[in-house]
This record gives sequence, structure tokens and C-alpha cells, in this order.
Amino acid sequence: MTKYLVTGAAGQLGQLVVDQLTTRVDKDDIIALVRKPEQADAFAAKGIATRMGDYTDSASLETALTGVDRVLLISSNDMTPGAREVHHGNVINAAKKAGVGFIAYTSLLNAKDNPMHLGNDHRATEDILANSGVAHTILRNGWYTENFGMGLAQALETGQHFGASGDGKYSTAARADYAEAAAVVLAGGHDGQILELAGDDAFTLTDLAKTISDASGKNVAYVDMPVEAFGEALKSAGVPEGFVMFMKDIDGNAAKGALFNDDKVLSALIGRPTTPYAETLQAMVAQS
Ligand SMILES: NC(=O)c1ccc[n+]([C@@H]2O[C@H](COP(=O)([O-])OP(=O)(O)OC[C@H]3O[C@@H](n4cnc5c(N)ncnc54)[C@H](OP(=O)(O)O)[C@@H]3O)[C@@H](O)[C@H]2O)c1
Repeated sequence: MTKYLVTGAAGQLGQLVVDQLTTRVDKDDIIALVRKPEQADAFAAKGIATRMGDYTDSASLETALTGVDRVLLISSNDMTPGAREVHHGNVINAAKKAGVGFIAYTSLLNAKDNPMHLGNDHRATEDILANSGVAHTILRNGWYTENFGMGLAQALETGQHFGASGDGKYSTAARADYAEAAAVVLAGGHDGQILELAGDDAFTLTDLAKTISDASGKNVAYVDMPVEAFGEALKSAGVPEGFVMFMKDIDGNAAKGALFNDDKVLSALIGRPTTPYAETLQAMVAQS
């Protein structure tokens, strides 16, 4: 009996993956890895087993991965430079020691040469996997459409969406689309692949502002700025320094196509079109 384990299972992507996986493999063969005991309750209510493990605690990971055949390693959300490489390396080493046969890893779109700082930890993790000797598949996930929910309240209040992406296109998909792809891959049939995963439709931030306007009935305009000026605007709006750096990196590199891809591998993998970005935005506007 093949045993499947999903790390970061209590996170937003992880929960969706586990739900999707139950439609593809026997529920009794799924294990959700969580790091806090109280996170087990929601899975228990669904009849899903949990194990405890922390990316910073190799011993806990080795115990948790014992007897597991296939692992989905969901990338850590620790923003400290270099931390994620260490976290992911700990999981991969523990998997190797525990005799895990396959690892799928959630990387970043265009990771091989993506100039975003975020790309560094993902490239390093891909290298660790390549040298691990464990069979693996790389899920190079594009941007979640839901990420644009962060600036939505401000855009609706001021009528302006600030950014530094120029005419750069974003090929986003809903988090649920990426989760379904991860479940498909974990269930089997795509081992050894590197999958660039992105939404079917791409848009500029000008398109985004128009979509928000249409969905809300309020006039929202995209205001494009040079990267440094964008950073200063964020700082003066009280955004913490670390997040300012993050936003400058994302927006500035998206301007150069870092988050664009039109291969449509994601929709082929999940067997349906990806969720249109306008649909996700409309839902977020309705909830705001
Ligand atoms: N492509 C994109 O647009 C995009 C956007 C945001 C994030 N991401 C990446 O994709 C990942 C999944 O996205 P998401 O939306 O599910 O993020 P999320 O909701 O923040 O979930 C991250 C998960 O990682 C777990 N985690 C963090 N540090 C850990 C540790 N030391 N040990 C064990 N587990 C740990 C968290 O555990 P707890 O539940 O215990 O906190 C959580 O379950 C993120 O972590 C990030 O690397 C991608």
C-alpha cells in the first residue's frame, strides 16, 4: 500500500492538496504533516491521519517520514534569507534516510533563471533534490491570483493600484489550481518531470486595475512607478522594510516577465482550464 505524505498540510495550499488527494487515492493512505498538535483536529474530522514534524527539526522529520512512499514538500514560508534552503534540505535528507521513494517539490515559475530573490532558495532546493538520488518532480508554481488580495482594500479605497511592473504580464492561477496539480503529481504518473505551472490567461497590472474596477463598480487606475519610487511609496504607507524589499523584487522582475509563462502545462495537468484571474478577483472584491 503506497503511503502519501503532504508537508505544510495545515497551510492554505496544503489543505487544498489533501482534499484533492482524497479524490485520487485511498484516504487511509494519506498523511498530513503538521507542526502544532492542534492542527491535527481538522484533519481528524475528515478522517485523515497526521504526523508531527518541523522543518527545523531533522529528527522529527525522519520519524514522520518513516514508512512513507511519496512526499509532497510544500515550500516553507520563512522569509529569512537562506532559511528555506535549510528547511527544505532537512526534509529531503530526512526523506532519503527514511527510504522515501519520491518527492514532489513546490518551486517557483521559471526557477532556473528567475531573477527574483525568491528564486535563490528554490534553485538551491532543486539542486539538493537533483543530488539526493531520490526520484522527484519539480512543480514550478507561478503566482497565486489570491496574492493580489493584499492590495485590494487600499486600491478600492484610493482608486489607485500602485506597482512597478510596467507592461509585464502575470500568468497567475488560483491556489486551488496549483493544489490540484500537486495532488495529480503526488498520486503518480509524472515522476521525474520539471513542470512550469501557470495560468492560461496573462494580464498586466493595467488589466488588473480594470478588472477590479469592473468587479467593484469603483474606478481603480493602475499607477506605474519606477521600482525605487514604488519602494518609497510603500515605506511611507507604513509597509515594513522586509516586505518593501519583497514587493520591489516581485514587481520589478515581473516587469521583465519573471512571472509570465504561456505553455499551459497547468491546465493540461489538471485536465481543465485554470481559474480565470477575473473570477478570483471578483470573489475577493465581493468579500472585501
Ligand atoms: N506562488 C505563490 O504565489 C506563492 C505565494 C505565497 C507563498 N508561496 C509559497 O508556497 C508555499 C505554500 O503556500 P501557502 O499559501 O500554503 O502558504 P501558507 O498558508 O503560509 O502555508 C505554509 C505552510 O508551511 C508550513 N511551515 C512553515 N514553516 C514550517 C516549519 N518550520 N516546519 C513545518 N512546516 C512549516 C506552515 O506551517 P504552519 O501552518 O504551522 O504555520 C504552513 O502550513 C508557501 O510556504 C510559500 O513557500 C507561493
